[in-house]
Amino acid sequence: MTPKTFKIKSFGCQMNVYDGERMAEMLAQQGMTAADDALDADLVVLNTCHIREKAAEKAYSDVGRLKREDGSKPMIALAGCVAQAEGVEAKRRSQLIDIVVGPQAYHRLPDMVAQAARGARPVDTDMPAAAKFDVLPLRRRAAPSAFLTVQEGCDKFCTYCVVPYTRGAEISRPWNDIIAEAHSLVDAGAREIVLLGQNVNAWTDGSHGLAELARELATIDGLERIRYTTSHPADMTDALIAAHGEVPKLMPYLHLPVQSGSNRILKAMNRSHTVETYLATLEKMRAARSDIALSGDFIVGFPGETDEDFEATLKLVDDVRYASAYSFKYSPRPGTPAATMEDQIAREVMDERLQRLQERINTHQLAFNRSKVGTDTQVLIERKGRYEGQMIGKTPWLQSVHVETSAALGELIDVTLVQAGPNSLTGAMLQKVAA
Ligand code: 5AD
Ligand code: SF4
Repeated sequence: MTPKTFKIKSFGCQMNVYDGERMAEMLAQQGMTAADDALDADLVVLNTCHIREKAAEKAYSDVGRLKREDGSKPMIALAGCVAQAEGVEAKRRSQLIDIVVGPQAYHRLPDMVAQAARGARPVDTDMPAAAKFDVLPLRRRAAPSAFLTVQEGCDKFCTYCVVPYTRGAEISRPWNDIIAEAHSLVDAGAREIVLLGQNVNAWTDGSHGLAELARELATIDGLERIRYTTSHPADMTDALIAAHGEVPKLMPYLHLPVQSGSNRILKAMNRSHTVETYLATLEKMRAARSDIALSGDFIVGFPGETDEDFEATLKLVDDVRYASAYSFKYSPRPGTPAATMEDQIAREVMDERLQRLQERINTHQLAFNRSKVGTDTQVLIERKGRYEGQMIGKTPWLQSVHVETSAALGELIDVTLVQAGPNSLTGAMLQKVAA
């Protein structure tokens, strides 16, 4: 039976959220309507993440939970990076799965749904040089802050990471397509665009880089803020750094994963930077934009990581004073070089290191948030708060702010920041003095 309603459940990174939105738009264009709950939907798309351990097991157990009490089940599409990694194997491991669709084949989803409605179990994990964007429909609805994928894939092959295998080689979308999609997002209500890519700052059309793209996007009326994520230290060009000092719409926030504070570990990770080159990049950034909020990613317990290596990571965190940072325990991924390296680190050691690292990060995060208390800033209202009359928005530095206001979603308001916690701040509407 052809499904009439659908539910897309996205896990993992922001690109999956973006892909989920694009799939939803495509299914809506086919005349299907979105269901609130997976249990009521005729078609459920599980848009999965493969970055850390047990991802596949989790996906299969999520699939199992879609079976209803009366024994019936929706049409089930396994999408995302687990689908890419498992391929046809997914159909063998779970009879409940009807469709397996990899991240480069989403444009074929409606066709695959039609095939599945006729009883087939189609699989598409091909990786063509991204024809999918040409086929996806234009954007009709957008949140105040909207994602826009400009680049996909990764050629860096860090030794712990599955992304080069699940998302394929680095490809950049053409300039004109990105500008057109940005216009349609702004027309659909976006005030902020977050450019996405696994190596977003490697984006190029052969003659321009991300810096020029950001400058062009900044000329769009109605677009107030531009962000991008995630960047690789090796692709952080002087042009992009300079743009942060010159383009007011480019927000003062940079997520630049470093992974470790030990050069020995960085080498074993096949990161193409050292602690020194990383810090030099941050220095340049601070020189261009003194208020830049810095963020990063860390892995603790990479094979061979000694106490000394870990201490070097803590020192780096103290030196940079991150405004926020994400940290993970190393998770061996089958097929990656690090998974078979000697000196895998014991779980208890990893647990302890992660806890210490997160405490240190939280200290800096709180200090950064507190440093803004008493200052006035602009907040982009992005969602409703828990209480009537309370809204939640973001500062230029990507901090969440709770504020009592009658302002609507998508409005930029002036607030005084009055209180700070580790994860959010409280703001008060700035009283405009009558002239
Ligand atoms: N184990 C732990 N963390 C990982 N990441 C990527 N692969 C792994 C892995 N095998 C982390 C990195 C990356 C973030 C998206 O996820 O820190 O920057
Ligand atoms: Fe993975 Fe490294 Fe590529 Fe990031 S740069 S996606 S960590 S291989």
